[in-house]
Amino acid sequence: MPGRHEPLTEGLLEGAFPAANPWPLYARLRAEAPVAWCEEPGFWAVSRMEDVLTVATDPATFCSSQGVLVMEIGTTYDSPPTMMHTDPPEHTAYRALVSPPFRKRVVEQMDAAVRARAGELVAALALGEPVDVVESLAVPFPLQVISDLLGLVDVDLDRLYRWSEALIPGSEDFTPDQALEVSAEVTAYLMDQAARRRRDPGEDLISMIALAALDGRRLDDVEVAMFLIQLLVAGNETTRNLISGSLVAFARHPEQWERLRKSKDGVGIAVEELLRWTSPVISFMRTATRDTVLGGQAISAGDPVLMLYASANRDEATFGPSAAQLDITRDPNHHVAFGFGTHFCLGAALARLEARVILELLRRRISHLEVAGEIVTSPSTVIAGVSRAILRLHPA
Ligand code: HEM
Repeated sequence: MPGRHEPLTEGLLEGAFPAANPWPLYARLRAEAPVAWCEEPGFWAVSRMEDVLTVATDPATFCSSQGVLVMEIGTTYDSPPTMMHTDPPEHTAYRALVSPPFRKRVVEQMDAAVRARAGELVAALALGEPVDVVESLAVPFPLQVISDLLGLVDVDLDRLYRWSEALIPGSEDFTPDQALEVSAEVTAYLMDQAARRRRDPGEDLISMIALAALDGRRLDDVEVAMFLIQLLVAGNETTRNLISGSLVAFARHPEQWERLRKSKDGVGIAVEELLRWTSPVISFMRTATRDTVLGGQAISAGDPVLMLYASANRDEATFGPSAAQLDITRDPNHHVAFGFGTHFCLGAALARLEARVILELLRRRISHLEVAGEIVTSPSTVIAGVSRAILRLHPA
């Protein structure tokens, strides 16, 4: 659209995005063009916290049903691929259906099981030697936790990992054809699991979803697959990158690890700062349903609007002059690492529990962390990924 293109937004595109250090770009966007038009493929980039909150809390004006990722612009669906692609009232009904096991009080009951999984992995870490903390800790831990919750008892974790990787939007290691093939494979597997639970229900999440009723009818197969695939995928890559990103942050900011170790308090406040700091989900998109104004900028009906959660999490207007600093004692900490409003992350309590448990175990065993080799970040514009992080964890 003539006159409103902002060249800065080109840096947000696949290939040009400075994934390892996007912060200067975000700072310039917030200061110079907080609601900026990106000509190709055509979307508004929203970088300030205030505007992100406006979009996230107004699904009637900024809907999710026309896609939540830039790569979906122009795509239409016969049925929503995930709950994230729905709007009220459909979203409200779906969300109510799957919310109970993810409520904080229910998740807290998983503490012992989650701690046992983490304990095994932490005990197996080679201390004092270079280790890839992505492979040895950050990848297997969330996979184990979600498969326990779903009730996948004897599942092959390598297979689960491959599936979860292939289904991540824009995954680099799979061609679109391979991703489609894996999608069919995982759908068949999960539907078989659902069919078994209908015959012989258990206490697990697959049983709950397989037997769930909505408006007096049982969920159909497409809906069951939609929920199960999203639950399998949503919490893996995100929680993984929170864990690996946090450990890299502690290696680069040893004084923060020292503070965590010396503190007599719980690690909950530190987890919030690590969520803000790593912002594992960079952005999600909405589409304007009507002409509106956002941050003083006119938006037309049909325009895609990209909420840059990662940028909002460094907004000086919210976090003050220390917004660009890692401070594990920051409190209050109103970040949007889990989104905000209607689609606020369903798995937030579970992700917080996982991060807390890992930090509690590590702070007892590790005196300090050191970068001892490659730190490889993924170039994704959606997920702030760390695909390899060679650290040395020094025993306490
Ligand atoms: C550190 C870990 C995590 C981060 C940073 C994260 C981030 C997010 C964000 C930003 C959203 C908002 C989507 C939007 O705005 O459209 C979201 C939604 C969602 N997350 Fe998470 N997530 C994490 C872990 C998990 C886990 C462990 C699960 C489940 C096992 C999960 C399941 C979901 C689901 C189902 C939604 C969609 C909610 C809805 O549409 O109402 N997430 N997450």
